[in-house]
Amino acid sequence: MVITLLISIGIISLLSVFLAILMVIADATIGNYGTVKISINDGSKVLEVDGGQPLLRALNQEGVFIPSACGGRGSCGLCKVKVVSGGGDYLPTELPFISDEERKQLIRLSCQVKVKTDVAIVIPEELFLVKEFTTVVESIKDLTHDIKQVTLSLKDPTEISTKAGQYIQFVVPEYEDSDESVYRAYSMASPPGDSKHVELEIRLVPNGICTTYVHKHLKEGDEVIINGPYGEFYLRDTERNIIFIAGGSGMAPIKSMLLDMEKKGSTRKTTYFFGARSKRDLFLLDEMKALEKTIPNFTFVPALSEPQAEDKWEGEVGLITDVVRRMVSEGSNSEAYLCGSPGMIDACIKVLHELEVPPENVFYDKF
Ligand SMILES: Cc1cc2nc3c(=O)[nH]c(=O)nc-3n(C[C@H](O)[C@H](O)[C@H](O)COP(=O)(O)OP(=O)(O)OC[C@H]3O[C@@H](n4cnc5c(N)ncnc54)[C@H](O)[C@@H]3O)c2cc1C
Ligand code: FES
Repeated sequence: MVITLLISIGIISLLSVFLAILMVIADATIGNYGTVKISINDGSKVLEVDGGQPLLRALNQEGVFIPSACGGRGSCGLCKVKVVSGGGDYLPTELPFISDEERKQLIRLSCQVKVKTDVAIVIPEELFLVKEFTTVVESIKDLTHDIKQVTLSLKDPTEISTKAGQYIQFVVPEYEDSDESVYRAYSMASPPGDSKHVELEIRLVPNGICTTYVHKHLKEGDEVIINGPYGEFYLRDTERNIIFIAGGSGMAPIKSMLLDMEKKGSTRKTTYFFGARSKRDLFLLDEMKALEKTIPNFTFVPALSEPQAEDKWEGEVGLITDVVRRMVSEGSNSEAYLCGSPGMIDACIKVLHELEVPPENVFYDKF
């Protein structure tokens, strides 16, 4: 009885695998979708593209750049667009990133939707302003044992218009550790006032495609293709107090915002909590101390969670959430900008909630 059942399950599983392989082969070989149309924003722009490819790639090839941090692997959830018609059914790979509300609004992951028939989509108008830039590496500097500062000089076009806190996508060419070109998101550390340069702070991720390329292969004088700017993580123009919280390379967008505030003569009460494990993970301390002198009402609070004896650290100690809780008494008139790992940001959001910072005034970029 049990053996018969097991044999039946085995046969059904084999048949399912066989059918799935057949469908993939059919899609790749017989599936000739010809040229299809992508109608954007009620036909204000219509693109003709080769059918059968992911919507994200088809748009990128036509110079319409959609945010993405994972290069179309379906793991970052950033490439959302509204697909009004022609997108087919939701794929299981999209569902973890799409809320019920977004589903009602026909939001899809553009890297997972294939354009097999004519498609109608809606995207924010500002994405038409995103451009591709050829840049040259002007300098590469070690900020810590695993973070490099990379300054790119814009070659074509020669200027970029950004808001402090936004990010670009860095195109990694094929190289010995990657047999395909990929792109990854990096926040700009440079201030919007410097339209001719883009400064990045890139932390090495072990075996990471882009960060290995930047840390081990990229040289001064090399050409780099980027596209941007992207993102809603920028400083709001209000009179509220500001709480910045960052860890590691999360410093990048906050530095850009501070330089922008310095230039604009901001007098808003601002506290920047910067968390690191030990002293070797801290960087730009002198620049931050200098900004305390040039931005009125600005305080920089570096904190170490695991200071080493040789660090001789006399500053704040503890997880950054504990330091924020200790130093901020009440936040109802504050807005907060958080940048770092998803775990750090989720923990900070809870603390800010306890401190009564209104949720609509909490902005973040999770790396
Ligand atoms: C809006 C935005 C802005 C960003 N800005 C910055 C920035 O200013 N500086 C910066 O250094 N990074 C930034 N990132 C992260 C960056 O886009 C890449 O994800 C990161 O550099 C890893 O890329 P990679 O190609 O080297 O690794 P991948 O080849 O993508 O990943 C290799 C492996 O490492 C894992 N992995 C990926 N990312 C991390 C991580 N951060 N920590 C641990 N493991 C990881 C993956 O799961 C995978 O298994 C930003 C991301 C977003 C979404
Ligand atoms: S590009 Fe990352 S999920 Fe689509």
